[in-house]
Formats: sequence, C-alpha cells, structure tokens
Amino acid sequence: MLPSIKRSLAVAALGAFLKAEAAHISSRTKPIAIPKSAPNDAGVPLDSFVSYSFEFSSWPDFAGNLSHPNAFSYNLMSNLGKLQGSMPIARVGGNTQDIAIFDESLETSIVGIIRPNISADYPTIITIGPSYFESYKTMPEGTRFVHGFNMGANSSAARAATWASVSHACKAIGSDLLFWEYGNEPDLFTASGYRPDDWAEADYVTEWLNGTTAIEEATKAACPELAGTKFMAPSFAGIGVNDYFRLDPVEVFKQGLDEKQNIGLIASHNYMGVSTNPGITLQGTLMNHSSVLAKADEQIGVKDGIKALGAALAPNVPFVMGEHNSLARQGRPGLSNGFGAALWGVDWNTYLASQNLTRSHMHQGTNYRYQSWQPIETNLTARGTKPPYYGNVAVAAFMHKPSSESELKISSLPSSSIYATQYAAHVDDTLARILLVDLNTYNTTADNNYTTPFARPVEKYSFQLPSDCKGEAQVQRLLANGSDAITGITWDGYSYNYELDEGKPVRMENVTCGESVKVDGKGMISVEVPWSSAAIVSLDC
Ligand SMILES: *[C@@H]1O[C@H](CO)[C@@H](O)[C@H](O)[C@H]1NC(C)=O
Ligand SMILES: *[C@@H]1O[C@H](CO)[C@@H](O)[C@H](O)[C@H]1NC(C)=O
Ligand SMILES: *[C@@H]1O[C@H](CO)[C@@H](O)[C@H](O)[C@H]1NC(C)=O
Ligand SMILES: *[C@@H]1O[C@H](CO)[C@@H](O)[C@H](O)[C@H]1NC(C)=O
Ligand SMILES: *[C@@H]1O[C@H](CO)[C@@H](O)[C@H](O)[C@H]1NC(C)=O
Ligand SMILES: *[C@@H]1O[C@H](CO)[C@@H](O)[C@H](O)[C@H]1NC(C)=O
Ligand SMILES: *[C@@H]1O[C@H](CO)[C@@H](O)[C@H](O)[C@H]1NC(C)=O
Ligand SMILES: *[C@@H]1O[C@H](CO)[C@@H](O)[C@H](O)[C@H]1NC(C)=O
Ligand SMILES: *[C@@H]1O[C@H](CO)[C@@H](O)[C@H](O)[C@H]1NC(C)=O
Ligand SMILES: *[C@@H]1O[C@H](CO)[C@@H](O)[C@H](O)[C@H]1NC(C)=O
Ligand SMILES: *[C@@H]1O[C@H](CO)[C@@H](O)[C@H](O)[C@H]1NC(C)=O
Repeated sequence: MLPSIKRSLAVAALGAFLKAEAAHISSRTKPIAIPKSAPNDAGVPLDSFVSYSFEFSSWPDFAGNLSHPNAFSYNLMSNLGKLQGSMPIARVGGNTQDIAIFDESLETSIVGIIRPNISADYPTIITIGPSYFESYKTMPEGTRFVHGFNMGANSSAARAATWASVSHACKAIGSDLLFWEYGNEPDLFTASGYRPDDWAEADYVTEWLNGTTAIEEATKAACPELAGTKFMAPSFAGIGVNDYFRLDPVEVFKQGLDEKQNIGLIASHNYMGVSTNPGITLQGTLMNHSSVLAKADEQIGVKDGIKALGAALAPNVPFVMGEHNSLARQGRPGLSNGFGAALWGVDWNTYLASQNLTRSHMHQGTNYRYQSWQPIETNLTARGTKPPYYGNVAVAAFMHKPSSESELKISSLPSSSIYATQYAAHVDDTLARILLVDLNTYNTTADNNYTTPFARPVEKYSFQLPSDCKGEAQVQRLLANGSDAITGITWDGYSYNYELDEGKPVRMENVTCGESVKVDGKGMISVEVPWSSAAIVSLDC
C-alpha cells in the first residue's frame, strides 16, 4: 500500500480529469449502503480467478522455451500473481488445439502454415514436436496449466499421435498440471467440417469418454503420479443448439459426459459478439452493463441447467469461463484493443465472479486484437502490453486474497446501472474493497459531439459504510485519456509497458497515486469517478 497523501492534493494532481470545474461533477443523490457482511448469494471465486487461455499455436511465442524464455510474459504473469495472491492459470488451447498434429520426430517446437483463405490470424496446418512442451517450463513458480489435446482430427494416425503426445506433455508439465482438456468447442465440429452433419450429443459423449480413457491410460503409464488428472470440459462455444452450434451443453451431461466422474471443471466459452458482424460498437456492445447482464444470464442458464441434473450426473464441480474475450474472431481493431475494452473486461469479469462463474480464462494469441499483450515482435503487431492487460490488473487487485485460506466474496451492488457499476469485495466476512466502473465512453481524439469544449464528466458517489469502517480509504485508479486510448494506460499510477521495464511496474510521474478519502463521523465516504475509468476503494473495516 502506498503512503496516503491529502485528498485535496490528490484531486489537484488528477489534473486533466478532475480539474474540471464543479459543473462537470454530477453527484449521485442517494448514498449507496454497503452491508457489513456479504449477501448470502455473493459469488465465491476460486483462487487464480484472473487466468488466461493461450492460443495453442501461439503458446511458444508467449512462453518461449528453456533456452529463450519469454521474460516479458514472465513479468506480466508475475505482476498478476502478486496483486491477486495466486498466479493466473494458463490454459493452452483454442481453435488450433484441434488442428495440431504431434510428430515425435519433429525437431522444432511447432511448424504452422497460415492459409489466409481459412484464417489470416493463425495457422491451419500445424505440426508440433516434443520440444513444444518445453514452453511449459518457463513460467513463474506457482503457475499451473491446462493442456488441450486434439479431438478434431479423426484419422487413426492423428488419434494415435495425440495419445503419443500425452507422455511428453505430462513429463514436461509435471506437478504443475491442473487439468487436461480434450477438444475445443466441439459443438462447432460440424460447422468446421470436422464431423459429419448428423454428429450429435450421443456421438460426442461416446467419443469423449473413449478418448479421455486413452489419455488417462497414457498418463498413468508415463506419469503415475499424475494418474487421476481430471478434465476441463465440455468447452463449448455456444449455450445451446442452433444452425451453427450443434451440441447442447446440458444435454451432453444428461447423456453421461461425466459418468466416469473425471470432469474437474465445467468450462464454457463466451464472446460478446463477433468482430466481423455489423452493428458492434464500444458503447452498445462492450461498455454496456445491460449487454454484460444479458451474456452472463445465458451462461448462468447453462450452469443452472447442468446443476439441476443433480449430483449423480454432475458432481458439484465449479463452472468457469474456460475461454472468452470481447469479440470473437480475434477481436476488432479500434474496439477490442482500446481502453474501453479494458473497462468492459473489468465489469464483465467482476460480474461473473459475483455470479459464481468462478474463474476467468481470457483468451489471447499472437497478433490478436483483443490480446492482453503481444509477446513477440511481428510484422503485424509491435511487442507490448495492450490495454486489456490493465483491466486484468484491476480485477486481480480487486480479487486479492491475503492467503488461500481466506474467503473472498464478491457482490454486485444493486445501485449498478447501465453505464456505471459498483461491486463489493468482502474478505473473511469483512468489507475490504469497493470497485466502481464508469462505462460512459469518452473520446480522447474527437470532439465527442457534445457541447464544446467537452470536459470529461466526473460522477461523484457517496457510500454509507458499515459502522466499523474507519480512518482513510485508499483509492486506486484505472486511467487513460479516454475509452479510445490505446496507450498511456495506468493502474494506480503504474505503467506495465514493455518499453519501460519489460512489463515490470514503473511509476509514472504524471499520474496520481496514493489518493485517499476520509471516512467521516457518520461512516460516509465520497469518491469521484471520471467517465471511462474505474476505481478501487480499499477500506479499513
Ligand atoms: C455462490 O456460491 C455460494 C457458495 O456455494 C452460494 O452460497 C451462493 O448463493 C452462490 N451465489 C450465486 C449468485 O449463485
Ligand atoms: C527455442 O526458441 C528459440 C527462439 O525462438 C529457437 O530458435 C529454438 O529453436 C528453440 N528451441 C527448441 C528446442 O525448440
Ligand atoms: C485455400 O487456398 C488454397 C490455395 O492457397 C486452396 O488449396 C484451398 O482449397 C483453399 N481453401 C478454401 C477453404 O478455400
Ligand atoms: C472425419 O474428418 C473429416 C475431415 O475433418 C470429416 O469430413 C468426416 O466427416 C469425419 N468423419 C467422422 C466419422 O467423424
Ligand atoms: C478409443 O480409444 C482407443 C484406446 O483407448 C483408441 O485407440 C481409439 O483411437 C479411440 N477411438 C476414438 C474414436 O476415439
Ligand atoms: C446495451 O445492451 C442491451 C442488451 O444487449 C441492448 O438492448 C441495448 O441496445 C444496448 N445499448 C446500446 C446503446 O446499444
Ligand atoms: C510477415 O511475417 C510472416 C511470418 O513470419 C511472413 O510469412 C510474411 O511474409 C511477412 N509479411 C510481410 C509483409 O513481410
Ligand atoms: C470517438 O471518435 C472517433 C473518431 O473520430 C469516432 O469514430 C467515434 O464515433 C467517437 N466516439 C464517440 C463516443 O464520440
Ligand atoms: C459530429 O457531428 C457532425 C454533424 O452532425 C458530424 O458531421 C461529425 O461526423 C460528428 N463527429 C463525430 C466524431 O461523431
Ligand atoms: C493524455 O493527455 C495528456 C494531457 O492532455 C497529454 O499530455 C498526453 O500526451 C495524452 N496521452 C496520450 C497517449 O494521448
Ligand atoms: C503520462 O506520460 C506517458 C508517457 O509519456 C503518456 O503516454 C501518458 O499519456 C501521460 N499521461 C497523462 C495523463 O498525461
């Protein structure tokens, strides 16, 4: 925690944003009451709530290998581990997982061929060799992994290659292995041409049970200490059947997907929209809490549907977002790669946590528009920390647990509205933090088409705290010049940019930190939040 400075000084130093005359500060009239204990239905996130999903073909770019570890990724992962109190988990999978064919004789880690008429973003002919798995040995201590096996390729040679890869994977990952995964988004296998038109839930379940048995046997033979490793499943792209998504996630459980009780985590995937579809906007699709609620409700429906099947079919395993991000098909420039997407990520992830979608693997790949960072230099994208990473940082700070024994509860406050949301974090049944997210877009570049000049509006909130909250509350801010900013993002006055110190935190002299607000004699505090920003208020209760 940084030393606190006087509030008046802090406000003055917020400069560009809060120097705005009182005219631009609008007060919420009603104080927001925060309960002493978390509500009974508060979410209870797992450790490592902030986790990642790395595109299978990009994993060597992100992680490097033993002779060339990627120090930048290492630093960015470490930062989150420190803030959150537990390291992000790396799920390695995605579309390219079901394309990659293992070849024991391949001397390089991966050979991928991009066919632009299928996808310009990732290779669609892929071979991996034994050294691919070296990339699992470069991450900071405490990082655990989910490795995704190829279910898409159905020739007997491809299947035999997948079973042969198990020993290489388990030996390289060792005790850091958390789960296996068999198949990414198999509900799209028909649409992708990997399976015939009539491939249905029963076919999927039979194939999955058979394949996971083969993987379990190979694990036991090569790595007896990892026998019994469970699976993350079913990792569907959709929430039900339509022309495109052909398998129903609830139905596959009904038909016995977990009959061997070898599923350790129920994973579902989500995107707020498809980047190439018309009508997608920052304010309408991402910086819109109603759209967050609508998408979360769909996922909650799947969770409740599976849970309703009862303990015999689906044991009480957690339901997580196994892969998700803003806009499918790798995101859209100008939306997924801007500060607005970071703020969407803060709201979406925190809301998920409040609803017991208990872990969040945000997806990324080399050159993807929604990536949290670009791990290497390419001719398409400069190596660097991207705005969404700063959103991950703020969520990690909000999810902080002093130890894995402490109990963290996240609740969404009823005062939340379409463009402004508030959350509470209780640790060991004591109010620890409040998160405020402002989702009104504010343009750095244009005239915004409001009155001229359009000073950045600031919303003032007051909170009625439980009576035992005292002293000074610390305020940490997620800031940029506007929702369209792609550079100059800071968290609590720190930059994590590559060019400063390879992703380690660097204090920026031109941005405030160490701000505090006083809890008054009646247990009230007030906090100002500029449009397109977020703030965490840490309390002593
Ligand atoms: C989250 O899980 C906890 C513990 O199982 C439960 O008490 C709570 O009601 C759940 N909340 C929601 C929103 O489902
Ligand atoms: C490790 O990575 C470096 C740099 O990408 C590469 O040149 C080297 O071949 C890799 N080593 C193995 C064993 O794949
Ligand atoms: C993509 O282009 C290649 C030639 O570069 C061609 O062989 C292949 O059939 C095309 N695939 C599709 C799906 O159009
Ligand atoms: C096997 O894979 C091919 C190509 O991906 C696909 O066309 C075919 O339908 C699949 N067959 C079965 C039985 O899954
Ligand atoms: C079924 O499992 C056996 C070994 O356990 C394996 O050899 C075979 O390829 C699997 N078949 C399918 C369709 O997954
Ligand atoms: C916000 O999301 C809701 C729910 O998806 C949608 O009905 C509404 O039109 C969106 N708002 C804007 C400004 O697009
Ligand atoms: C960009 O890099 C890729 C992969 O290294 C290469 O195939 C492609 O030709 C390069 N494109 C240009 C325009 O240099
Ligand atoms: C922000 O500015 C860009 C570029 O001029 C424009 O396309 C966009 O519509 C503006 N957004 C808002 C909310 O004014
Ligand atoms: C602002 O409004 C004017 C007039 O309606 C329009 O021509 C211009 O494109 C708008 N600018 C932005 C950034 O939306
Ligand atoms: C943000 O705004 C400040 C103050 O107007 C300006 O000095 C700075 O260059 C801006 N940063 C970016 C990345 O545009
Ligand atoms: C602070 O300085 C950095 C680096 O020069 C710049 O990118 C950023 O926009 C500045 N922030 C403000 C609020 O001026």
